Amino acid sequence: MPAQSSQVPSSWNLETIRQQIVGLTSQVPLLNGQLHPYISLDNAASTPALQPVQRRVNEFLAWYSSVHRGTGFKSQLSTWAYEQARHIVLQFVGADPQHDTVIFGKNTTESLNQLAHRFRARDERVLTSVMEHHSNLLPWRADGDELLDYVAVTPDGRLDEEDLVRKLEQYNGHVKLVAVSGASNVTGYVPPIQRLAEIAHRFGALILVDGAQLAAHRPISMGAPGDPERIDFLALSAHKMYAPFGSGALIGARDFFAQGEPKMVGGGTIDIVTLERTVWTAPPERDEAGSPNVVGAVALAVAAATLQEIGWSFIVDHEQTLTTYALRRLHQVPGLHLLGGGDPERVADRLGVISFVLENTPHALVAAILAYEHGIGVRHGCFCAHPYMLRLLNVPPEEIARYQAGIERGDRSHIPGAVRASLGIYNTAAEVDILVEALTRIARGEYAGEYELDPITGDYTPLGYTVRFEEHFSFQ
Ligand SMILES: Cc1ncc(COP(=O)(O)O)c(C=O)c1O
Repeated sequence: MPAQSSQVPSSWNLETIRQQIVGLTSQVPLLNGQLHPYISLDNAASTPALQPVQRRVNEFLAWYSSVHRGTGFKSQLSTWAYEQARHIVLQFVGADPQHDTVIFGKNTTESLNQLAHRFRARDERVLTSVMEHHSNLLPWRADGDELLDYVAVTPDGRLDEEDLVRKLEQYNGHVKLVAVSGASNVTGYVPPIQRLAEIAHRFGALILVDGAQLAAHRPISMGAPGDPERIDFLALSAHKMYAPFGSGALIGARDFFAQGEPKMVGGGTIDIVTLERTVWTAPPERDEAGSPNVVGAVALAVAAATLQEIGWSFIVDHEQTLTTYALRRLHQVPGLHLLGGGDPERVADRLGVISFVLENTPHALVAAILAYEHGIGVRHGCFCAHPYMLRLLNVPPEEIARYQAGIERGDRSHIPGAVRASLGIYNTAAEVDILVEALTRIARGEYAGEYELDPITGDYTPLGYTVRFEEHFSFQ
């Protein structure tokens, strides 16, 4: 277990990164009454915080004040820091500071809703895909389905590029936006976003990349205006980038956001208001209604700068090596099936987001045993990507109807799903070994607890066991 260090490391490697992860040495209670180091394999949901982020946020709080409208020194400094954060984010995603802007919000979901509002207001046709997280699917169809269509996925869960071209041809120049994930939160699959951009542009459409999963794991280059491979819009969330302070960003051309009404309106979004008239202000403030989350913006910028300092070659190399190792080892677990195939030799176009099912053991039970008996944090279920999951699991339509009826009755007992282990920059082969050992034991039926299913939540808990969170965290 690495000692936590409050110093900035002179060089970054796996050991120094681990020293800079907040809470890495936290011990969690197990069913057997012992404390055990927590193994965090749920990075696709939220990553832990990086200490440089925590340190800078603490330093910044001494200077923190209201942004934009205050005249005092602290307000001026906070405004400066907020605007600097935009520059750092622009640089992080390879956008063009002359042309592009950053709209800070609370997360990817909010960013996607904001962008969808602009396209829906103009009744514009949008293509998204079957592999999307609900956050890149529901905002586009909020007012109905008529102007939305879905690019298919192949049986192994990859975006079907031929179907994309077919649909763009079929709509004959009427598709205005292709909205695709930069990386799947189920299979880790990374579509060729630059190639997809070129295809979209060829048919006169713009492209949005949902960068929620991608941003902390691969370098992103939005590119220059006019470049056929340019990514026109990008959305990301800081809590998936080691900076959990409630911020996210939408990046795109300033000119685009200068058109149309913002989704959220209120203070900060206008130049002038009379009782009869509203004159919207210029981007990005036009889309940042209310007092901005300056602390979150600073945290996001520090995280972006720290990831760049660690270096993409280390991040990509470490995560790919670990993913190959994890896939190889998981294939050895009896009765374990990886969604999307999980070829250990094919990691160039995927992240370490690994979903699997274990024969004869419900996904919810596997996740519960991992938590209560092994101190391992994973996720289970359909990961807010129901259409994609049902496709990957090959659930026939009549079964889907049965599950839907069950859920509508409030019964989640037998809903289909999988377990997801997702890797971050700080995870190790030893942690993967612990996961694999635990899964092998579960596959053999070796676990201590007697677990009860709550049909309302679909979760399992060990009978007779109570967790006392107040022993670990208190508000006073
Ligand atoms: C691919 C993808 N898109 C969007 C989101 C939504 O992110 P947030 O909850 O931060 O808005 C997630 C969250 O898991 C995701 O994985």
